[in-house]
Amino acid sequence: MIAKTLFGFEEILAQELRNLGAQKVETGVRMVSFYGDKGFMYKANIALRTALKILKPIKEFRVFNEQSLYKGIQSIDWTDFLSNNKTFVIDTTVNSDIFNHSQFVALKAKDAIVDQFRELTGQRPNIDKDFPDLRINIHIQKENCSVSLDTSGNSLHHRGYRTATNIAPINEVLAAGMLLLSGWDGQCDFLDPMCGSGTILAEAAMIACNIPANINRKEFAFEKWNDWDNDLFDKVTDSLLKKTRDFHYTITGYDKAPSAVAKAKDNIKNANLDEYINISQENFFTTKKQTEGKLFMLFNPPYGERLDIDLERFYREIGDTFKQNYPNTDAWFITANLEALKFVGLRPSRKIKLFNGKLEARLVKYEIYEGSKKGKYM
Ligand SMILES: C[S@@+](CC[C@H](N)C(=O)[O-])C[C@H]1O[C@@H](n2cnc3c(N)ncnc32)[C@H](O)[C@@H]1O
Repeated sequence: MIAKTLFGFEEILAQELRNLGAQKVETGVRMVSFYGDKGFMYKANIALRTALKILKPIKEFRVFNEQSLYKGIQSIDWTDFLSNNKTFVIDTTVNSDIFNHSQFVALKAKDAIVDQFRELTGQRPNIDKDFPDLRINIHIQKENCSVSLDTSGNSLHHRGYRTATNIAPINEVLAAGMLLLSGWDGQCDFLDPMCGSGTILAEAAMIACNIPANINRKEFAFEKWNDWDNDLFDKVTDSLLKKTRDFHYTITGYDKAPSAVAKAKDNIKNANLDEYINISQENFFTTKKQTEGKLFMLFNPPYGERLDIDLERFYREIGDTFKQNYPNTDAWFITANLEALKFVGLRPSRKIKLFNGKLEARLVKYEIYEGSKKGKYM
C-alpha cells in the first residue's frame, strides 16, 4: 500500500507505520510504501496521524499511448470491485510526456471501465464525484501506470471532531506531524497559547493518550467495498483502543478571541477529549507559566497575511513573553512569515522546513531555560 503525507513527514509516517506493525516500509517523496493485510489496512486508516490517504495498488502496467492505457485498464476485472448499481470516480496524477491532461486520462480510463460492463451486461455503473462507492486512483509516472483503490475516501485529516469554523484552522495532519516531529510524547504539561479552534490541543491529547487519530471519523472508503468486513473492523478498533494510556499532566489552550475559545471548547467536546484539556480566554502576552516543571508549547501564531496586526511588534512580544514569563519551556511554533521570525529576538535551536497548504513555512524551536534571562538569546 501507499500512504500519502505532507512534505517533511515521510520519516515520522514511516515510524508510525513500523510501530503499528507494517512490513517492508520504504519512504518516498510525500509518501511511504508498505505491506499489510486487510486488517492492517483498516488499522492504518484508523490509527495513522500523519497520513492523508492510503492507496491500495491493484495493477501496474506500461503506457505508451491512449490505446495502451485503455487496454491496461480493461485488463483489470472491474466486476471484482464494481457493479452496475454502484458509482465510482477516478482521481489522476500524471507526470509524463505522453499525456499532458490528467482529465483526459480519467476520461479514457472511465471509458475502459464502463465499456467492460456494457459488453458484459448491456448496462454500466455511473460516475458520482461527491459520494462514490469506489474511488479509483491512477498515477502515471513517465511510462509507468499504477492503478489503485483509495481506501480512505476523504482525506484522513478529516478526523470527524471539528465542526465548521471561520477561524483559519491548521490541517490536523500538519498539527499531528509537527507534534511528532517536535518529540511531544505526553510526558509534561502542554500549552497552545493561541489555540484558535483547538486542533493542536486535540492532536496533542490524542498523542499523549495514544488514542487512534481517526477514532471519531464517520466513514472510510473501504466500508463500501464488496469485501467490507465489519467484524474485522470492530476487532481492529477494539485492539487499538486497548492500547490507550493514562495521561498525568495538563493540556491548556489560550486564545484572546472569545469566539475561538467557544469553538475550541466545542471541538474538544466533539473529540471526547474535554477531560484532558482546559481552555480559557487569555492574551498570551499577559500570561505567566503556570506549571512547576517543564512546559511544552506548540502553536501557530498569525502570519500576518490577512490579519491586521503589527507583525514586528507581535513577534517581538512572542519573544519577550517567552523570555520573561516562560522559564523552563520548550516552545515551538510554525510560521510562513520568515521575515517576522527576526523580531522574536531569540535564536531558534531548530528550524524545520514544512508547508502550511501552499505556503512554505518553518517550524521553529526555542529553548527557554530556568532562571536565566540570558540563555541562548541574541
Ligand atoms: C492561526 S490562528 C490558530 C489556529 C489554530 N491552530 C487552529 O487550528 O484553529 C491564530 C490564533 O491566535 C489568536 N491570537 C492572536 N493573538 C493572540 C494573543 N496575543 N493571545 C492569544 N491568542 C492570540 C487568534 O485569535 C487566532 O485564533
